[in-house]
Amino acid sequence: MKFTAIISTLALASFTLAQTPQNAIVTFDTFYDMTLGFLGDTACAILIQKLGVSAFDQLPNFPFIGGAPAIQAENSTFCGTCWELAFVDSIFVSAMDQGPGEFRISLEAMNALTDNQAVSLGKVVATATQVGVSACGLGL
Ligand SMILES: *[C@@H]1O[C@H](CO)[C@@H](O)[C@H](O)[C@H]1NC(C)=O
Repeated sequence: MKFTAIISTLALASFTLAQTPQNAIVTFDTFYDMTLGFLGDTACAILIQKLGVSAFDQLPNFPFIGGAPAIQAENSTFCGTCWELAFVDSIFVSAMDQGPGEFRISLEAMNALTDNQAVSLGKVVATATQVGVSACGLGL
């Protein structure tokens, strides 16, 4: 049945894109606030080819960018994935570097996540959910 096939395709798509939320440590690194930061200096240099940009501020979601624990090797398939992080507020972050055991995002993004408490809190345990890349504006 055509109708059934469409429904199961949609169910599969939403399963693929809306993963189960997990607790994750989130901290900041002002490296990711640098407009002229160079993707070639991250674990995701592959994004230069995939996206055709090289400066951090050319990423559609800048400065909501950073390292993610899912990226454990250079040019990981998780490079360019989009994550919803929720703490006080909810933000969408483009994963473009490795984050050993934690998300390391820009100070500006962490301030948005924590209602401007990034510096005083340092690290928080937030909820992280991988979402579709369109939420981060990435055309991958
Ligand atoms: C990652 O991708 C970049 C750009 O394509 C390449 O220069 C680099 O050698 C790659 N690194 C690894 C470990 O494959």
